[in-house]
Amino acid sequence: MKKKLISLVLASAMCLTLLAGCGGSTSASSSAPAAEPAATEAAEPAAEPAADAAAEATGDSDLATKKVGVCIYQFNDNFMTLYRQELERYLIEQGFAKENITIVDGANDQATQSGQIDSFIADKVDVLIINLVNSSSAATVTDKVVAANIPLVYINREPDADEQQRWADNNWNVCYVGCDARQSGTYQGEIIADLGLDAVDFNKNGKIDYIMIEGDPENVDAAYRTEFSVKALTDAGFEVNCLDDQVGMWDQAKGGELVANSLTQYGNDIEVVFCNNDAMALGALQSIKNAGRTVGKDIYLVGVDALTEVVGYVISGEITGTVFNNHFAQADGAADAAINYLTGAGNEHNIQCDYTKVTQANAQEILDSLQ
Ligand code: BGC
Repeated sequence: MKKKLISLVLASAMCLTLLAGCGGSTSASSSAPAAEPAATEAAEPAAEPAADAAAEATGDSDLATKKVGVCIYQFNDNFMTLYRQELERYLIEQGFAKENITIVDGANDQATQSGQIDSFIADKVDVLIINLVNSSSAATVTDKVVAANIPLVYINREPDADEQQRWADNNWNVCYVGCDARQSGTYQGEIIADLGLDAVDFNKNGKIDYIMIEGDPENVDAAYRTEFSVKALTDAGFEVNCLDDQVGMWDQAKGGELVANSLTQYGNDIEVVFCNNDAMALGALQSIKNAGRTVGKDIYLVGVDALTEVVGYVISGEITGTVFNNHFAQADGAADAAINYLTGAGNEHNIQCDYTKVTQANAQEILDSLQ
C-alpha cells in the first residue's frame, strides 16, 4: 500500500515536472530512487581481485569455455559504446574467448531486449551482464534469469531500492555495478559554484539563471544529475533561476535542438547550460556558437562523461567542465563481478565507483588517462 502510494506520488511528480518544465529539485524519473550509496558495501569496482580469484578457483582456461551474454540498451550511445568496447577488451584479457562473448543491441526497445534475454537463457549462457532499456523491467528480468539459474550483473541503469532489496533477501546471484549519479550532479554544480557569482551572473539579477537538458528518465542518472547539480549551487548559497528544463534523451542532436530553442526564447538571460551528459553538451556547444555566444565569456556549459572530444574542449575553454564517468572502472568492475559469480567467490549486491570532476585544471591529465 505504502509502496503504491509512493509510486503514485512519484508518477504525479513526473507529470508535474514534465508539464512545468523547471521542476526545481523534483525528478523526472518514474522509478523510485536507487539504493543509498551509504548502504553500499564496496567503494572499489569489485569485491575482490577477480583475476586472482579466478586463477585460484578455476584457472583462466575455464573462463575460456564460459559463455557471456551482454545486453546493451542501445549501441547508438556514445558513452555505452566506450563502455562495451572496454567490457569486451577486459573480458578477453581475463581469459574469456572472443567467440563466447555475445554483445547485443537492445535498440532502445524493451521488448527487443527481453527477446534477447530469452535467447541467451535458451542458449544457456553462464552469466549475463545487462544494461536495461527500462529500469522498471528489472523485477521481471531478474525473475526469469534467476529461475534459469544464471548469475546476473546489471550495469548503467540502476534498478530501484526495492528491487535490490529482493536480491539481498533471497540471496540471489544478482548485483548492480555503477557510479552514484548524485556525485556527478554535485560536481557539475560545484564547477559553476567555484566560478563565483560575479563571474556567472552576467545579467546582474543576483541569481544563477540556467537551463537543464536531461537524459532519458529511464536512467536514474538523469534525475540525480538534474537535482544534485542545482542542489550544489543552492548549498553553496547561490540563488538559482531555472529558465527551461527539457528532456534530450542523452542524444547530441536532440540536446542541440533543445538548447537552440531555449537560446531563441531566453537569449542573454541564460547564464549556465547544464547537460546531463556530454553528448548533449556537444550539441549544446554547437547551438551556443550558432547563437553567437561564447562559453567562458557570456555563458557556461557543463556535461558529464568526459568523452575525449569534450575533454579537448575543456582544455581549449570551449566547454566549462565535465565529470568523468569512469567507464573503465565500471566495465572492468562488471566483468570482475561476472567472474566472481563464475568462480563461486560471489559479490556484494551493489558495487560502486567514483566520478572525477574535470576542469581546465586537470583536463590534460584526464585526457592522457583516457588515451
Ligand atoms: C551516461 C550517458 C548515457 C547513459 C545511458 C549515463 O550514465 O552519462 O552518456 O547516455 O548513461 O544510459
